[in-house]
Amino acid sequence: MSESSGVSVAPPGPRGYPLLGVFPSARKDPLGFFLESARTHGDVVALPFGMRRLYLLSHPDHIKYVLQEHDGLFQKGPAAARIKPLFGESLTTVDGDDWSRRRRLLRPAFQPQRLVAAVPTIAAMAEEMLGRWRSPLEHGRPLDVFAEMIGVTRAIILRILFGDVSEVDAWTVGQAFTTTAERVNRELWSPLGWLFRLLPSSARYDRAERCLDEFMTRRIDEARRRGPGRDLLSTMLAARDEETDGRFDDAALADELKALFVAGHTTTASGLAWVWYVLSQNSRARRRLQNEVRAVLGTRPPTADDLPALDYTRTVIEETLRLYPPTWVTARTTSRAVDIGEYHIPANVIVLLSPYVTHRDPRFWEDPDRFDPDRFSPGRGIRPRYAYFPFGGGPRACIGSLLALIEMQVIVAMMAQRYELTLAPGSRVDPHPGIVLEPYPGVRAILHPTGPGTGS
Ligand code: HEM
Repeated sequence: MSESSGVSVAPPGPRGYPLLGVFPSARKDPLGFFLESARTHGDVVALPFGMRRLYLLSHPDHIKYVLQEHDGLFQKGPAAARIKPLFGESLTTVDGDDWSRRRRLLRPAFQPQRLVAAVPTIAAMAEEMLGRWRSPLEHGRPLDVFAEMIGVTRAIILRILFGDVSEVDAWTVGQAFTTTAERVNRELWSPLGWLFRLLPSSARYDRAERCLDEFMTRRIDEARRRGPGRDLLSTMLAARDEETDGRFDDAALADELKALFVAGHTTTASGLAWVWYVLSQNSRARRRLQNEVRAVLGTRPPTADDLPALDYTRTVIEETLRLYPPTWVTARTTSRAVDIGEYHIPANVIVLLSPYVTHRDPRFWEDPDRFDPDRFSPGRGIRPRYAYFPFGGGPRACIGSLLALIEMQVIVAMMAQRYELTLAPGSRVDPHPGIVLEPYPGVRAILHPTGPGTGS
């Protein structure tokens, strides 16, 4: 892999329809379409999306090259235009020096000791949720586990970012986010998506965007007036970049908070909902999980010190993130032409990397569609580093990956201590690829109290 030599050839790929290209098939079943394209055409595939050509790369070596490249060859900003309503100008969407400065400023907020200190907050929020489940349990009523996971992860990220947030504020911000996300998701799979943004937006959507911005601005003002605190916003307000002596100004901080709010709960909620879906399909894994949780914790809530011992819980989460990676695709734009293997990728085109596709590649994963947490047991499965990348990699790897894993481990353990979940009769769950990979139309589950230990 190198900057283009000029002798490379155009990558293969499906032809698609005149004008629309592969849009109709990609839109009908995006995941199936990407999997099939990689299986049929190989590691580098050219996909005509309308008038544009996108390039899907699925070999771990190519993914490593794109993610670890440091010389501005692959830019994130241009391809992130569609998610700007949710992420604004933030760490997730900017490039170059602006990105490095923001990453340095945010680093202190994500230090492991700070995140570990969030365990009691996470456990308290999970406890509240589990308390609310007594009524559906008693009445045998199904519960939408995905909606519950959104609720609990949203409450947690608001608490971690801002400290106390009233129920009314949490509800209002949640609604505003849902409205904004609906629009972004609608644009994502529209062949006219690029035009969408030229149309006047609806009053409801404008109100939602304003509501999110106003909430962030108000909380920044309050935090400034209040002085130092233990929440992430306080750390961000205090952060000073040693290299430039710069700080976040209020506008930058508001966008950064909005992005952390979104990235910090949608992904984790979908990952957790998928955990419960796959467990509902695997009774042996459910038993092993319950036994581990019972042996390590008994009936008390987990502390940070317990997490290393909740080893099977961790492998269940890792294996779920393999099969259903919440960030199922990520994109970069080439700033110059580049050769990937024998293939030529032009300048100014979008390159797609899909963990969903690479995580199901039989060259790196035996029987890839099977749920098998033991793939992640120590000593098992020597595979290329980038055969698995649910949190991306290289300099732009997920800044919140440790928080996400801690949060998921605590919540999964606490749920497994009390309940076993089975899918409600007649319900079917499909992966729905929007901003994150959601279980559609949710995970309708029946709760069963967990019985005494059964041995592994
Ligand atoms: C299961 C949960 C999560 C998953 C699967 C996930 C996945 C990812 C991935 C794949 C990337 C890299 C995208 C790319 O290379 O284009 C990323 C970046 C990012 N994530 Fe996460 N994430 C999760 C949780 C979180 C949490 C909890 C936070 C914050 C509280 C967070 C904040 C971010 C930010 C700010 C970036 C941008 C980093 C940069 O560009 O420097 N994520 N995430």
